[in-house]
Amino acid sequence: MNNINIRVASIDDIEDILFIYNEGIIDRIATLETTIKDKNYMLEWFHRHKERYKVIVAEVEGKTVGWASLNQYSSRSAYDGVADLSIYIKRTYRGKGVGGTLLSYIEGIAKENDFHKIVLFTFPFNELGQGLYKKRGFREVGVFKNQGILDGQYIDVMAMEKLLF
Ligand SMILES: CC(C)(COP(=O)(O)OP(=O)(O)OC[C@H]1O[C@@H](n2cnc3c(N)ncnc32)[C@H](O)[C@@H]1OP(=O)(O)O)[C@@H](O)C(=O)NCCC(=O)NCCS
Repeated sequence: MNNINIRVASIDDIEDILFIYNEGIIDRIATLETTIKDKNYMLEWFHRHKERYKVIVAEVEGKTVGWASLNQYSSRSAYDGVADLSIYIKRTYRGKGVGGTLLSYIEGIAKENDFHKIVLFTFPFNELGQGLYKKRGFREVGVFKNQGILDGQYIDVMAMEKLLF
């Protein structure tokens, strides 16, 4: 898809970020979160993303269609160089290259902000996620068996990482 514009998110993007996140929660392919979130939750989340922990959005024809964030992996200073990644694309825009564009951009931001590594946690059955991460050079660290429960079923969670330096 052409014409994907990436920019740093502002507080005015919260409603769109929330909507897209809730689609990911409802679809049961992205996160162990089970209940949809409200604006206050998302605002509090946004305010925790300060300084190096950036949030970016993707726009197509002036509409926000996806977002990505660098999250704190751990409060221990030994992990200051490690960022945890979140990435969510609006349902109707998945599989069209928006995630790839966001991921490429946020890797650059991570480097600029002295992160040497990005980690992420994904479900092994998330085909678009797996396709994207492997293509972008993420390595499978391993699979936590029966790591969570979604709708009464155990779910495996795969840890992946990409070294940036
Ligand atoms: C996972 C997600 C972020 C990927 O973003 P996306 O915009 O859909 O992905 P892209 O279109 O940029 O890239 C997908 C890549 O996967 C591969 N792919 C495409 N269709 C595929 C399929 N059916 N099966 C496997 N791989 C596939 C391709 O390599 C493709 O890249 P290419 O077409 O440029 O070669 C997005 O689908 C999403 O938001 N899903 C719901 C929320 C979510 O799962 N978030 C991630 C939590 S870990």
